[in-house]
Amino acid sequence: MEYRFDFLVIGSGIAGLTFAIKAASLGEVAIVTKKDKLETSTNYAQGGIAAAFGADDSFENHIQDTLSAGNGLCKRDVVELVVRSGPERVKELVEWGVRFSRRSDNPLDFDLGREGGHTKNRIVHAEDMTGRAIEQALIRVAENHPRVHIFEDHFALDLVVEYSGMRIGRRFRKRHKKCWGAFVFNKQRNEVDLFLAHVTLLCTGGAGKVYLYTSNPDVATGDGLAMAYRVGAELANLEFVQFHPTCLYHPKAKNFLISEAVRGEGGRLIDKRGRAFMKDYHPLGDLACRDVVARAIDTEMKKSGDDCVFLDITHRSKDFLIKRFPNIYEKCLSLGINMAKEPIPVVPAAHYMCGGIKTDIHGCTSIDNLYAIGECACTGLHGANRLASNSLLEALVFSHQAYLHVSEYFNTLKDESFPLLSVGDAPYPLVSNALAQSEMIFIAHNWDVIRKVMWNYVGIVRRDKRLMLAQNHIDQIQREIYEHMPNIPLNTDAMELKNLAVVAGMIVCCAILRKESRGLHYNLDHLQKDDENWKRDTVIVLDEE
Ligand code: SIN
Repeated sequence: MEYRFDFLVIGSGIAGLTFAIKAASLGEVAIVTKKDKLETSTNYAQGGIAAAFGADDSFENHIQDTLSAGNGLCKRDVVELVVRSGPERVKELVEWGVRFSRRSDNPLDFDLGREGGHTKNRIVHAEDMTGRAIEQALIRVAENHPRVHIFEDHFALDLVVEYSGMRIGRRFRKRHKKCWGAFVFNKQRNEVDLFLAHVTLLCTGGAGKVYLYTSNPDVATGDGLAMAYRVGAELANLEFVQFHPTCLYHPKAKNFLISEAVRGEGGRLIDKRGRAFMKDYHPLGDLACRDVVARAIDTEMKKSGDDCVFLDITHRSKDFLIKRFPNIYEKCLSLGINMAKEPIPVVPAAHYMCGGIKTDIHGCTSIDNLYAIGECACTGLHGANRLASNSLLEALVFSHQAYLHVSEYFNTLKDESFPLLSVGDAPYPLVSNALAQSEMIFIAHNWDVIRKVMWNYVGIVRRDKRLMLAQNHIDQIQREIYEHMPNIPLNTDAMELKNLAVVAGMIVCCAILRKESRGLHYNLDHLQKDDENWKRDTVIVLDEE
């Protein structure tokens, strides 16, 4: 099938939905999403949205906290923009029907929570299921809009780009490119569709699945990052992978986060013997930034040989915990852990990509008519370490920025003719299922290898030698994929493997490039921060010369 839309949005989380709802005032919008429309990282976000609403808070406080978490790499103009627009964007969500936890009947009298790295209470939340409240409200608004069309089970394979002339890039001579949509795998019909669009947005979220242990849902395979790389977009700062300090440690718990808000409400990290250890590592103790806390836990576990540490919030009453953390309380109880009476076993796990597709202040990438918003983007807000709960905020602000930008020139854009392309131009062979079955072991094996290599060699604490070993492994897997993939028919696992391998390669490449320790990138062979040489982004781009 071939479709023509004004806007193609890839991904149905907070970034894609917010943009789609706004852009529908200009034209027809298609949202493609590779599974169910609700199956997004947004839907699992527990903490909330950071915004300076508190009487004792100010934009300047929030700006300073963001800059200090980012460790010298945040872009000040981006931080200012995001922080200052925060309250307005949160109010918009309330108008769209999101019900946040409040102290009174006034819909803006938010019950503001605290998380690591924040010097004030400023987390707007909906109990401990903020993402779900937002996702459901946005889906309701989008589905009721006659110009928004949601395509579930549609896996975006590759972007459609057209070359138009030449320009001189920063380091390479690059072709000037324009994006016209994407080839998309329709999983229900087992066919490739072509979605042509005047404007395309990558809102594909993160890539936590590149690591063995992650808080992310299964969909987080870095598809947008890999697609952008393959068409030559610039990406930046992929070495800054944020590990959340406290994921539930239990054989039956997969990817379950214990929100930082638990520490915000007084939870303390302790070891098996009950010793609280965070004050040994930072004056802010349990509410230090995530890079510090995750490293401290890693150190404690390595020192003691224990499999996990514990989060103790037993000083709070059962009634309080049920009201404030109904989801976490219920989940723990279902696994036999009563958090009102006993500490919760926790370990760090890959949580958030601070780097991504490089954008300007409007969400524009280095390719014309292609925007990237949300976790897949690198806007300059997070620098070397994201401040907790700044990510939903960034997605809201940048979807608004992209909408404002596109509104300005959409009248000219919509009159441009689509390129002469048909679905037959898709570069994907479809071969018989019989061959496919024999190759599935190749997919499963390499998924495992990538995730283990990344966890063991490119984790919370790094070394040059381990990074080089990781590079060798990932290179080898990429060669195998290149060789075998033409014989494998399209399916989600195969396409995700291809994308994971690209993303793993980029993370390793950025980590090798950065010869210092800063924020989330901690390398025992380069322990010092090196402002003279490294107070800058690590930018990578496919070399097409
Ligand atoms: C959490 O609830 O701890 C996660 C919030 C975030 O990642 O910003």
